[in-house]
Amino acid sequence: MATNRTFTMIKPDAVANGHIGAIINDITSAGFKIIALKYTQLTAETAGKFYEVHAARPFYKDLVAFMSSGPIVAAILEKENAIEDFRTLIGATNPAEAAEGTIRNKYAKSIDANAVHGSDSDENAAIEGDFFFSADERF
Ligand code: CMP
Repeated sequence: MATNRTFTMIKPDAVANGHIGAIINDITSAGFKIIALKYTQLTAETAGKFYEVHAARPFYKDLVAFMSSGPIVAAILEKENAIEDFRTLIGATNPAEAAEGTIRNKYAKSIDANAVHGSDSDENAAIEGDFFFSADERF
């Protein structure tokens, strides 16, 4: 059953380039409610664990190094049809292919430094949200 929730991270590139406020504004303007929010930095170990599903992929090592290179903002978001609508809002993984006006089109530079993460399924949204947030950090 759909949970109407997704999980996102504003990645180190977008944080370093000063886009936290603009991205959160895009997210809330699109109708997403913030259920949980955290400004933190992943270690190589925690980034490796978060992206464990990609461990066999050739880009895994660079991805882990990049995701632990600076602070990120993690959030659980709620909206009807959250997974699909959020993926539409952020655009394609590769910013060169992201539709005009999407978050990755506006703020991302490359497939690694692609500004934001968005969960690809209800199941992964729950796993990823649990990775960062305890029950008493959700509102
Ligand atoms: P994200 O949605 O956070 O999930 C995995 C990340 O791996 C993805 O965004 C990209 O930033 C990164 N990545 C790097 N190369 C690739 C690739 N070839 N295909 C998919 N993801 C990639």
